[in-house]
Amino acid sequence: MRVLITGGAGFIGSHLADALIARGDQVVALDNFSTGSTANIKHLTKNFELVEGDIRDTKLVQDLVSQADLVFHLAAAVGVSLILESPIESISTNIFGSENVLLAAAQFKKRILIASTSEIYGKGVKQPLNELDDRVIGSPQKLRWSYSDAKAIDEAMAVALHHKSNLQVTTARLFNTVGPRQSSRYGMVVPRFIGAAVKNTPIPVYGNGNQTRVFCHIFDVVDALLQLVATDKTVNEVYNVGGIGEISMTELANKVVEETKSQSTIEYIPYEKAYAPGFEDMERRVPDITKITSAINWTPQRDLSRIISDVAAHITNS
Ligand SMILES: NC(=O)c1ccc[n+]([C@@H]2O[C@H](COP(=O)([O-])OP(=O)(O)OC[C@H]3O[C@@H](n4cnc5c(N)ncnc54)[C@H](O)[C@@H]3O)[C@@H](O)[C@H]2O)c1
Repeated sequence: MRVLITGGAGFIGSHLADALIARGDQVVALDNFSTGSTANIKHLTKNFELVEGDIRDTKLVQDLVSQADLVFHLAAAVGVSLILESPIESISTNIFGSENVLLAAAQFKKRILIASTSEIYGKGVKQPLNELDDRVIGSPQKLRWSYSDAKAIDEAMAVALHHKSNLQVTTARLFNTVGPRQSSRYGMVVPRFIGAAVKNTPIPVYGNGNQTRVFCHIFDVVDALLQLVATDKTVNEVYNVGGIGEISMTELANKVVEETKSQSTIEYIPYEKAYAPGFEDMERRVPDITKITSAINWTPQRDLSRIISDVAAHITNS
């Protein structure tokens, strides 16, 4: 198969490319390198084509989608820090860019999977988060919510195009996905903690460290994405894709220190200092993965210790 991955030079996209090429597919990656990097894909020489360009380029997207058998739409402005630093560019990419890709998939009748996010759920207190739960979103004046809002519009566009044009689309709501190649530059917590631990510098924990997350290894996420598009029964459905095992940021920092045998201490940084006054975070974000497990029999296979050792090895060797 010829598979188009938008955001193919990014963290998740490059691992997905690895898996597709390993099974014999041909991959075309469309990326503008805003957060992606050539380092992620430099090992890909066979059955791999890189197209440097923007998902907002309608003609380019139409050309690439028309030639593909399958599309994974992963390109997005990602990460709280980036959304806050470049809100206009981020909103434009995440709404207009996704609309472009979805319209092209509908026009050329291509099977597509789009990456949504656990940010969709916002700051509701009910946990674990189920696909049918209502969204509880802060004011649009707080720009961090624009990522959640944009991804919600993408999901709605996918549903609408399924109804209007029978678009064969599946939506994956990814929870915290971690592993080698994830950049710490845009506020991602695991590479940030491990990067500090391997240098024995203080580990920066935002807020009081009681906020929790659930992490999923990139290899498990790639397995889920591949299985989701391998069947028609997932068409016009949305699935949480996330790990098992909730952990607070203080516990995570301690576990990172222990498993990397680091001398680092923990440094608590108030949110107002890390981001801006009035910054809102979610206390918990726990996925209910019952739906994906019953649909395709997927559960994550790799635990947090494996995640930490794989990320630490990558940081140390790069
Ligand atoms: N990593 C996670 O924990 C996580 C969680 C939830 C959702 N997601 C979603 O998964 C997808 C991939 O995220 P990731 O973690 O690999 O991030 P990433 O930043 O590594 O990948 C995104 C890629 O998209 C590219 N890109 C951005 N804007 C573009 C544009 N206008 N045109 C072309 N390419 C563009 C970037 O250069 C980058 O390579 C995103 O849609 C993201 O919203 C990721």
